[in-house]
Amino acid sequence: LEKSLILLKPDAVQRRLCGEIISRLEKKGLKLVGMKMLVVTKELAAKHYEEHVEKPFYPLLEEFITSGPVVAIVVQGPEAVSVVRGMMGKTNGRESAPGTIRGDFGLSRQVNLIHGSDSPEAAARETAIYFQPEELVEYSSSLDSWVCASDEL
Ligand code: GTP
Ligand code: MG
Repeated sequence: LEKSLILLKPDAVQRRLCGEIISRLEKKGLKLVGMKMLVVTKELAAKHYEEHVEKPFYPLLEEFITSGPVVAIVVQGPEAVSVVRGMMGKTNGRESAPGTIRGDFGLSRQVNLIHGSDSPEAAARETAIYFQPEELVEYSSSLDSWVCASDEL
């Protein structure tokens, strides 16, 4: 079953929107299998956003992502990566559809509440940046078969 690495960015924590966003992920049926709060260091930011380090906006992104605590979450579910990306909406909150997290709560291209892995390979790489293997939990739930058919579990 696929996993995705999510960050609730500093603006989500500051705006007290973590519960709202986590609630949406849970209601969708995604299973929380790892969660912690931390402050992202410059070193961690550069590892996480290695594809953007050379981009002109990187100094601003670094300043933002290190500016306060974040919540790192690993969720699990069928096609969890693309499901989460769909729930997030487009990068720019002004262009994100209503009903998405960024579309409902944001107006910025940078200060956009949530990060989600964009591929299963990225999810594995990013999960290893934020979590030790023993910090992730495996568990079954009696609701699993009411959330997905057994062929999807
Ligand atoms: P993530 O899930 O955080 O990776 O967002 P994304 O995949 O929707 O966007 P992308 O990977 O292209 O950019 C990573 C993050 O950098 C975005 O979420 C924004 O916070 C920030 N960002 C992207 N483009 C810009 C930009 O043009 N200007 C600024 N200031 N920030 C940007
Ligand atoms: Mg990205």
